[in-house]
Amino acid sequence: MCGIFGYIGFRKATPLLIEGLRQMEYRGYDSAGVCLSEKNGLKAVKAKGRVGELVKKAANQDLASTIGIAHTRWATHGAPSEKNAHPHLDCQGDIAVVHNGIIENYQALKKILEKEGHCFVSETDSEVISHLIEKFSEGASFEGAVLKTLKILQGTFGLAVVKAGEDKIIGARKGSPFILGLGDGEMFLASDASAILKYTKKVVYLDDGEMVTIGKDGFLTRKLNGEVSEKEVCELKWNAEQIEKGGFKHFMLKEIFEQPQAVANTLRGRLASDTVKLSVDIDAKAVNRIVIMACGTSFYSGLIGKQLIEKFCRVRVDVEYASEFRYRDPIVDKDDLAVVISQSGETADTLAALKEAKERGAKTLGIVNVVGSTIAREVDCGIYLHAGPEISVAATKAFTCQIAALALLTAFLQEQRTGRADPEFLRELAGLPEKIQDILDHPQEISKIAEVFRKTRNALYLGRGFNYPLALEGALKLKETSYIHAEGYPAAEMKHGPIALIDENMPAVFIATKDQTYEKILSNMQEIKARGGRILAIVNPRDKEASNLADWIIETPVVMECLSPMVNVVPLQLLAYYVADAKGIDVDKPRNLAKSVTVE
Ligand code: G6P
Repeated sequence: MCGIFGYIGFRKATPLLIEGLRQMEYRGYDSAGVCLSEKNGLKAVKAKGRVGELVKKAANQDLASTIGIAHTRWATHGAPSEKNAHPHLDCQGDIAVVHNGIIENYQALKKILEKEGHCFVSETDSEVISHLIEKFSEGASFEGAVLKTLKILQGTFGLAVVKAGEDKIIGARKGSPFILGLGDGEMFLASDASAILKYTKKVVYLDDGEMVTIGKDGFLTRKLNGEVSEKEVCELKWNAEQIEKGGFKHFMLKEIFEQPQAVANTLRGRLASDTVKLSVDIDAKAVNRIVIMACGTSFYSGLIGKQLIEKFCRVRVDVEYASEFRYRDPIVDKDDLAVVISQSGETADTLAALKEAKERGAKTLGIVNVVGSTIAREVDCGIYLHAGPEISVAATKAFTCQIAALALLTAFLQEQRTGRADPEFLRELAGLPEKIQDILDHPQEISKIAEVFRKTRNALYLGRGFNYPLALEGALKLKETSYIHAEGYPAAEMKHGPIALIDENMPAVFIATKDQTYEKILSNMQEIKARGGRILAIVNPRDKEASNLADWIIETPVVMECLSPMVNVVPLQLLAYYVADAKGIDVDKPRNLAKSVTVE
């Protein structure tokens, strides 16, 4: 995580750097800093906390330069503090670096550099980079010194460097995102396209192991062996309005309300009454097993994907936490299809798991939102969500769109394998945007229930079958946005432990819409009631039995069981949002979290 931003051009850099950081604050918000290449040398300003703190400090400084780099941090090595904030400078204060990623051999490098007399001021891994460039600068060009440094760094980096007296910025990447924005007489660099969208749509994606020298009128990319590389200029499809709140109090709320449109966008052009069109080159009949790999919310959509694919296609599907998969000796081979799910397309563990599966010969397919992201470029084929930018740290529309994409993949595989996709399934899928909208038309009841939930310290989320992963997702949403401890559980498993926690202070949220486990869920609800527990139930309209057992109900429209998570998740998202907002939490940027986890 962490966000880096750079500008070189004809405008004063500071306001652009600050704006760029604001757009990327979701990537980390422990500290922020800028470094400007002024006429009389480099000038760095840093602050602990949010970009707003940096703005206060920068206000008293005379920063006139048109060249600068900036950073917003999600702390890994060293506590959130001003001294650990980037940019990190060398001993002379002539070289400044912003870095996203982890330098794994920093301790060994730091020892050598300290022996040679370099003085470190921070506890970060990143600071070794500026000192190494300083060390290698003797008798070498700026580019030469950076190149030498990059060759000995182990780990991951997306970085930008400025040097006093040099009218250029040098950038590089290995395993962390890095995008170049091409303006007219100005150039931008950033960890994420959303930060440069306001200024240009012409972009260049840097590949792993590439370095770029950026001047205001052009750029030159090289591989780490010094060889010049050719780059393609791409056009961003997102527009600047999509990264504004558009009248909503928070991005999370906006993104929840965008779901009907976002899901329609995922389905657009791909779904017909009797067929699904996907440009994925898979020999579905030859697929022996599917392994889905993902993290966080994307992992939970993967659990739903497993059930969909197994039900309709009768292919075995395993779902793996990407972070676990890569550190085993996983059984994957050329007859497997590896599906990676990632909103950002940059999650380090998911990317590493993808590489592992590829090396073992599996065919790879990505379900990704961010176009041009690393995962999107690494997979053999893929399905873009087209959900538009998701800014809030807590994923919402990405989740529903991921299920929509998995449903499309399911129908595609079923059609390829059996000659026919289930028409009822396709019809239901097409009708989902409207059903999601039905729930969004009545958010008031949920905000009332949130008033009760804000006072609770623990909550249990329970569901079965297709709605079991939803219990996990509902609990995750509540804990990450509201700091309320919540556990998701398969409802029947509750008897084997969590039921011991039930009393009047620990509410249980049941997903109790009508499906094949409905009767069983009713029994589970009875078990909670018998122990004095309070129940919020997600039910279908005109439901009597579950509603009678519940203290509060939220109604969701009737949907085919296997697609019901796409509507049932909406009240759970809204509940988490309203509770967090009622508690006065910065909903879009909950503490300690980051949207895109580009470190392991
Ligand atoms: C972080 C975010 C989650 C997200 C997860 C996976 O933890 O806070 O919202 O689900 O990363 O991210 P990805 O971009 O790979 O879907």
